[in-house]
Amino acid sequence: MKFFIDTANLDQIKEANDLGILDGVTTNPTLMAKEGIKGTAAINAHYKAICEIVDGPVSAEVLSTTFDEMIAEGKVLAAIHPNIVVKIPMIKDGIKAIKWFTDNGIKTNCTLVFSAGQAILAAKAGATFVSPFIGRVDDSNWDGVQLIEDIVSIYNAQGYLTEVLAASIRTPLHIVKCAEAGADVCTCPLSSILGLLKHPLTDLGLQQFIKDAQNMQ
Ligand code: G3P
Repeated sequence: MKFFIDTANLDQIKEANDLGILDGVTTNPTLMAKEGIKGTAAINAHYKAICEIVDGPVSAEVLSTTFDEMIAEGKVLAAIHPNIVVKIPMIKDGIKAIKWFTDNGIKTNCTLVFSAGQAILAAKAGATFVSPFIGRVDDSNWDGVQLIEDIVSIYNAQGYLTEVLAASIRTPLHIVKCAEAGADVCTCPLSSILGLLKHPLTDLGLQQFIKDAQNMQ
């Protein structure tokens, strides 16, 4: 399973990249706005800066919702860097736009996916990635990890090439469960990635090893 970081914060992206295990980045308008980025020039410069840190797919989301506008916006985003993946919402015009980008050799990430049926449409349109939001599914009293299992099983049965990118990750356990469910990619906040490191027995064991190492010197 590939690890993407789900943020537009350059310091966090650098920190995750320095671990040596980062495969890509996803952003969305909420995450970009959180960094105080405003206006097309600043947005595009920010995506360029992210692409210069991480050597892997960087999802840049369109801000429009009509076919013509999404195509125009996506073309500009894709021209920023070869690693840009145009992120498109799961709506009727979005599916048409994904098909258009697929036919024109531009990679896409179909976002705001909450059902297996939506994931089938994204794959049929040729999306490079599909993003089921598992944390938000859990928030609505359904099972987010089960949704990943369902989509992975359908894609395997049908031979769809779209990669299942588990998004809206909230905890380290979500990452483990997505790996078990066969997700191709997990996009996570830095806190969840670093949370994977933690185990009290590791801390206790290391304390003892450090103490014993001192007795050996
Ligand atoms: O990038 C989309 C997704 O990961 C959002 O996560 O925590 O806002 O549901 P969250």
